[in-house]
Amino acid sequence: MSLVITPENPLRPSFVGVVTGVNLSKPLDQQSIEAIDRGMDHYGVLVFRDQPLSQDEQIDLSVQFGPLDSGLRKATGAATRFKYDQLIDIGNVALDGSIANKDNKKLIGVLANQLWHSDSTFQNLPVKYSMLSAVVVPEEGGQTQWADLRAAWDALPESTKKYVEGKTGWHSAFHSRIMLGDSDYSQEQLDKFPPVERPLVHTHPGSGKKVLFPSVHITHVSDLAVPEGRLLVAELLEHATQAQFVYSHSWRPGDYVMWDNRSTLHRGTRYDLSIRRDLRRTTTLERDYVPAEIAA
Ligand code: OGA
Ligand code: MN
Repeated sequence: MSLVITPENPLRPSFVGVVTGVNLSKPLDQQSIEAIDRGMDHYGVLVFRDQPLSQDEQIDLSVQFGPLDSGLRKATGAATRFKYDQLIDIGNVALDGSIANKDNKKLIGVLANQLWHSDSTFQNLPVKYSMLSAVVVPEEGGQTQWADLRAAWDALPESTKKYVEGKTGWHSAFHSRIMLGDSDYSQEQLDKFPPVERPLVHTHPGSGKKVLFPSVHITHVSDLAVPEGRLLVAELLEHATQAQFVYSHSWRPGDYVMWDNRSTLHRGTRYDLSIRRDLRRTTTLERDYVPAEIAA
């Protein structure tokens, strides 16, 4: 069995690869890890089908690509139904395994994930890949979509490129939630995630490609008044998420999708929240980065 990556859409050969010839539930050999890393640099998103994983298997797989981050739970202190803090619960399942009720606070995260973002840009950490394992999926809705931010940069008019270059966005953990009407955070929680400044354009380390980097997490843009900055981010998000830059994934149980948060945006799409959806995410940091809690 050897690992093969082919474009999901031959008409778009540099965005979204489909990977076959690998078993993700077993430790990967160095060659496969390198092939996946190179595939990520080229495609931004990799899709693996028929790879059901236990919690242990997903963690074991993910750490082969770098140290793991546990995201927003560090601030909210929310309990988890998983064995590992680093498994992030994407879906509408309550702690006891039932489908979350309408008033479950967890659903705000589900809904905030339906806005275009890259994971954890509001943390001052070198976030790299995220990987999502599908366990239970609804028949209708609940796709996940990704947008290619390299292609989005290339397609920007020259005048907009000039305007955007050199500007930075301030990414804030709770902004998308507050926008959706959930403002119930203590100062202590807010203080755990001070806004993080990131360029609106950066160069992707693995491919050398320039990347436009807007996000719903951005509260304001350097050198611009708040309304102007927010309008600029809205304009850039609208540009970057046009159909020609977007891949929409219809989940099957056992699917595994890996993406590079430095070169893509993603969001979930609407589904009936009374129907079970259970997806589990892990997120890696740059390989040689040592998280404070591990270094301590
Ligand atoms: C994620 C995410 C959206 C979804 O897994 O990081 O934002 O609901 N997912 O598929
Ligand atoms: Mn996400």
